[in-house]
Amino acid sequence: MEPLLTVKDLSVSFNTTDGTVYAVNNISFDLYPGETLALVGESGCGKSVTTMSLLGLIPKISGNNMSGTAVFNDGVSKKDLLKMSEEGIRKVRGGQIGFVFQDPLNSLNPVMTIGQQIAEPLMEHLKIDKNEAERRTIELLERVHIPDAADRIRIYPHELSGGMRQRVMIAIAISCSPKILIADEPTTALDVTIQAQIVDLIENLSKELNLSVIWITHDLSVVAGLADRVLVMYAGTGIEIAQVDELYDYPSHPYTRGLLGALPNPDMESSKRLISIPGSPPDIYTAPYSCVFASRCKFAFDLCHKELPKLVELGNNHQAACFIAEQLRSEYV
Ligand SMILES: Nc1ncnc2c1ncn2[C@@H]1O[C@H](COP(=O)(O)OP(=O)(O)OP(=O)(O)O)[C@@H](O)[C@H]1O
Ligand code: SF4
Ligand SMILES: [Mg+2]
Repeated sequence: MEPLLTVKDLSVSFNTTDGTVYAVNNISFDLYPGETLALVGESGCGKSVTTMSLLGLIPKISGNNMSGTAVFNDGVSKKDLLKMSEEGIRKVRGGQIGFVFQDPLNSLNPVMTIGQQIAEPLMEHLKIDKNEAERRTIELLERVHIPDAADRIRIYPHELSGGMRQRVMIAIAISCSPKILIADEPTTALDVTIQAQIVDLIENLSKELNLSVIWITHDLSVVAGLADRVLVMYAGTGIEIAQVDELYDYPSHPYTRGLLGALPNPDMESSKRLISIPGSPPDIYTAPYSCVFASRCKFAFDLCHKELPKLVELGNNHQAACFIAEQLRSEYV
């Protein structure tokens, strides 16, 4: 099967008054039709910047740099999302690629009704009139299980609970029948029972609509339940990628091992955030030139401090960026 999205060597750096921030460094991954890929890693490791790049949301100011390719195959043509014009990427964003962010209140416009906020992108992307947009808006609200949808289109975001607001964001995200949905920590701002409902909703919609999902999270219990594959990120780099079962059964990068070692039980029924591993991530003002995990790794040896390990194939479509990954993988056999 051909990937829907192929990201290759994506790097993003920001010019700040304190120096250049190397936020994302040579990240590569594929996203296949209908699959859910989870991006997992500690705060600041570059998860959001990675997906913001795909949506054309990296500020284009002098000194900021973005390189690499992100080829999106929409079935008709292939286009590099990183090289598109402002107008081109605006059509893709909210059209072929929907997105849901962490905080629904900040993502919605407080002075526009729910109905207007769903209908406007529909009219813009699908070139339909107001009546048709309103009909579709009610359908979309019903699809995300908002009760009394026909009445709710006239209310404002502050009149809804956090969970309901996130449902509205999801309705907007799927409104133009996207091929990809980017969900950046969509449940973090919600309480636990509502979190589970939103996870279920996105999971069900992705099956019904055959959506490919990039799901960003800290929550390993969520990952185990909903992802097909996982990309573990550390300090702006992709350090391990595998099918979810393969990764949980045979974590082969010391960082992933540390994260999984924290889980309270193998079924991961309870919600558990990533533990903190002793030490701190490397300086983000220096481009990586050696293993980014070396200062915290109990296996580190000379080479780790001198050279940057590349992702190596370990079999079973499992890759890890560590000089001893094959050895660590073989310990399970
Ligand atoms: N516009 C910007 N200017 C300067 N630095 C930035 C900018 N946006 C992000 N960064 C930096 O890039 C790094 C990666 O940020 P990013 O938001 O992708 O992390 P994250 O993995 O999504 O973290 P979290 O889990 O907290 O959301 C961080 O060090 C962040 O401070
Ligand atoms: S390359 Fe070296 S420092 Fe990096 S994770 Fe592997 S063993 Fe640890
Ligand atoms: Mg983030």
